[in-house]
Amino acid sequence: MTAAGADFARRVVQWQRVHGRNDLPWQGSRDPYRVWLSEVMLQQTQVATVRAYFSRFVERLPDVQSLCDASLDQVLGLWSGLGYYSRARNLHQCAREVVARYQGAFPRTAQELQTLPGIGASTAAAIASLCFGERVAILDANVKRVVARVAGFDADLAVAANERALWDAATALLPAANVARRTMPRYTQGMMDLGALVCLPRNPSCIQCPVRANCHAAARGNPERYPVRTRKLKRSAQSLWLLWVESAGGSVWLHPRPTPGVWAGLHCLPLFESEQALLQSMPAALRRKCSALPAFTHVLTHKDLHLHPWRLLLPDTATHWGAGRWVAPQEWPALGLPAPIRRLLETARA
Ligand code: ADE
Repeated sequence: MTAAGADFARRVVQWQRVHGRNDLPWQGSRDPYRVWLSEVMLQQTQVATVRAYFSRFVERLPDVQSLCDASLDQVLGLWSGLGYYSRARNLHQCAREVVARYQGAFPRTAQELQTLPGIGASTAAAIASLCFGERVAILDANVKRVVARVAGFDADLAVAANERALWDAATALLPAANVARRTMPRYTQGMMDLGALVCLPRNPSCIQCPVRANCHAAARGNPERYPVRTRKLKRSAQSLWLLWVESAGGSVWLHPRPTPGVWAGLHCLPLFESEQALLQSMPAALRRKCSALPAFTHVLTHKDLHLHPWRLLLPDTATHWGAGRWVAPQEWPALGLPAPIRRLLETARA
């Protein structure tokens, strides 16, 4: 630990106490269930969105045992709209393992937490430091930016060895080994808050930064140059045709999507690769009653989905559509549905 390192950590902790975020719904308790759930929700989702989802989730499933006992459908239903549904499937599996392997008590070290489904190195370090005061560094996207700038770390993070070196740089900045245990939670939160509120990707507020004096990038006047990452996400596009069959009573034909694949495990309208395939799934008499709705695009991480919905209204639920079932209007809103499918179905209820 260098003197500069000790000074850095102290400044982060003092700044967090006054300027950081201290009123988020998952704060104020060291309950690892709540912290774990919030960290998983926050992996790919903004704080503002997670707030409402988190509160609803813990109201229905307040602890790891209730999540373990819930059905996957219920969990996907509570997750519906947050996206990245593998997070919800891992969450459910993780709760089962915590109950089976650890009698319902989360392990207390980042090393053990990392052995659980859906808990990567940074999430494990977040839980261990926030709940149990373990002296371990987190390295989510925001914190990578803070550390890369402070350390003047300009190696390409697309290279795994460089990412490991950045982790070492993050570890070198941690509070001293002999500080009080309550320091670690505040330091971890402080690093996240610095990245989210001050050390922004564009136009960082260096003037307001508590560690400006420790920061190589600020001294060189080029913070936006860091972090360096060369590889760009390769995006693709796919067109899909959706068949929205609805009975006069408001029931909708839905089927669970196969795993793996887009929206694995969620309930979805039947999907087709072409308009022709969609129309061929029904007899000619029904084809004439089927009409195209306006197409729209849904953006996933790696892919743009161009969705072409077709609607078919039937008097009753006598017709069946291969794999799947009729789902009553009072049942489908609680099921796990992909967000664009839910929005589409809701247009008919509005
Ligand atoms: N992003 C990831 N974890 C977070 C946390 N605990 N608070 C705010 N933003 C976060």
